[in-house]
Amino acid sequence: MIYKVGLLGASGRMGLQIAGLLQDGFSHDGDSFELADAVSGSGKLRSIEGIPVRKMEEPPREPVHVWIDFSTPDASMAFLDAIETPIVIATTGFSDSQLSKIKKYADRFPVLLAPNTSPGMNLFLQWLEQLPEGLKFDLNLSEEHHVHKKDAPSGTAKSLLEVLERRGYGEVPVQSVRAGGIRGVHTLKFAAADETIEIRHEALDRKVFAEGALIAAAFLVKQKKAGLYKMADALGTRN
Ligand SMILES: NC(=O)c1ccc[n+]([C@@H]2O[C@H](COP(=O)([O-])OP(=O)(O)OC[C@H]3O[C@@H](n4cnc5c(N)ncnc54)[C@H](OP(=O)(O)O)[C@@H]3O)[C@@H](O)[C@H]2O)c1
Repeated sequence: MIYKVGLLGASGRMGLQIAGLLQDGFSHDGDSFELADAVSGSGKLRSIEGIPVRKMEEPPREPVHVWIDFSTPDASMAFLDAIETPIVIATTGFSDSQLSKIKKYADRFPVLLAPNTSPGMNLFLQWLEQLPEGLKFDLNLSEEHHVHKKDAPSGTAKSLLEVLERRGYGEVPVQSVRAGGIRGVHTLKFAAADETIEIRHEALDRKVFAEGALIAAAFLVKQKKAGLYKMADALGTRN
């Protein structure tokens, strides 16, 4: 099946990656997508893959089956007031009240909220769900990203901390590094007196996030029920 996809944040680093994959004919389990609508903030980019890039307040180009959002928290919030469509929200940095608004939207439509759409990071999160409680190690988390990243700690770091808290590790220190063009590195260190263990995930190419977002979209278009889904649902790895 070919689904029509809309991109919020079409002109951004991630929006351009997704548009590139669509242009290259990305498909997943027999599903493929065509870009049908594209929204950005400044209007600097006029068109993408032959589709005009519009501002949010301008009329939709055509109905889409699913939106993919890589923008900013404020843009995501405004957009939820403008659509009635399933949406993959991959933007990060939401406040608690913004997350409540996403949950309310998810009472009416399928939403997949994914602070990290890469399969590898979702494997990392899945492993942590099995972390034994009461380990005699000090834990430390560091996250590194490019200088343009606005939120800190990263949405992924927050997801890792949430799982760690559930496993009984509540006060894990986090360091955020913003340097150069780093795509995204998360390192969880376990340190005891005479030994250390590290679990480290590094995104080598933004394509990994873009592919993950399209896999999430392919999952979301098939959900008949409204609800708040996770990347693990799309990957079939939810515990
Ligand atoms: N979930 C994941 O795996 C993952 C991976 C990477 C990044 N992210 C997150 O995705 C988000 C975007 O990242 P990025 O690196 O692509 O950022 P970016 O390059 O700064 O792109 C941001 C996009 O949002 C648009 N935008 C800003 N304000 C807007 C508004 N008011 N209305 C409509 N569009 C607006 C921008 O449009 P203009 O260019 O026209 O201003 C641009 O297209 C960030 O929150 C980042 O942390 C998530």
